[in-house]
Amino acid sequence: MIYAVVNQKGGVGKTTSAINIAACLAEAGNRVLLVDADPQANATSGVLKGERPAAGTPGTADVLLDGFSVRNAVMPTAVPGMDLVPSSADLAGAAVELVDREGRDVLLKAALAPVAHAYPYVFIDCPPSLDLVTVNALMAADRLIVPVQCEYYALEGLSRLMETIAEVRARLNPHLRVTGILMTMHDPRTRISGEVIAEVRRHFPGEVFDTVIPRNVRVTESPSFGEPVIRYDPHCAAADAYFEVAKEVARRG
Ligand SMILES: Nc1ncnc2c1ncn2[C@@H]1O[C@H](COP(=O)(O)OP(=O)(O)OP(=O)(O)O)[C@@H](O)[C@H]1O
Ligand SMILES: [Mg+2]
Repeated sequence: MIYAVVNQKGGVGKTTSAINIAACLAEAGNRVLLVDADPQANATSGVLKGERPAAGTPGTADVLLDGFSVRNAVMPTAVPGMDLVPSSADLAGAAVELVDREGRDVLLKAALAPVAHAYPYVFIDCPPSLDLVTVNALMAADRLIVPVQCEYYALEGLSRLMETIAEVRARLNPHLRVTGILMTMHDPRTRISGEVIAEVRRHFPGEVFDTVIPRNVRVTESPSFGEPVIRYDPHCAAADAYFEVAKEVARRG
């Protein structure tokens, strides 16, 4: 099953959710592949424990633009059972470069097909945009996870994103499903945070994960150690929540 973690809004918890849900499922004994599809490469640096991929290491840009085999771009991570297709700034021009390519929106889907059988779970961490790289992720994916930050403007971008997803499903990828909208960075001390969760649940009944990810300082610390928070501090509140979300992901299928 290929999951894309998607929201065109920046800083909502896509990368944090992708690496932690992926890591939870790896810790449960599944082979997991994390595909970093963002030139910011936060997922890459977030799982390599401070090791940087050597210059020239093949990654998502080589796969999308140069027909590199995913098999040759896969590298191990600090999380046992979890492999990574790394990203780098090389991916920054990809969306523009892809425009003239034949089959420009199904390149990632084609690239992942030969390795998908080796990984029961593949997670694609998308950039904060709806560019051609994200479209490639939406075409490659069977399922979507949509992180949404518990803040006042949450619903605005979300409605547009859900319309885009519905359009992709209707026209291009009919078996695409939303596994869930994941409410992130919940702060129980503020009233607005809870109100936003209730509002999103009202707008998208049945589509929101039961589990909500709390705002937690351990999450902000973990990237500088190059580890998912579920390994950096497995007993903090955010780690607990990500373990629960991973169970929901496995259950919702
Ligand atoms: N539950 C949380 N508690 C505290 N901080 C969090 C939490 N989730 C994410 N953050 C922090 O919020 C910031 C944005 O998170 P993240 O990078 O996962 O978002 P993103 O959607 O991938 O961003 P971008 O759109 O730039 O790719 C990061 O600094 C991250 O450490
Ligand atoms: Mg990100």
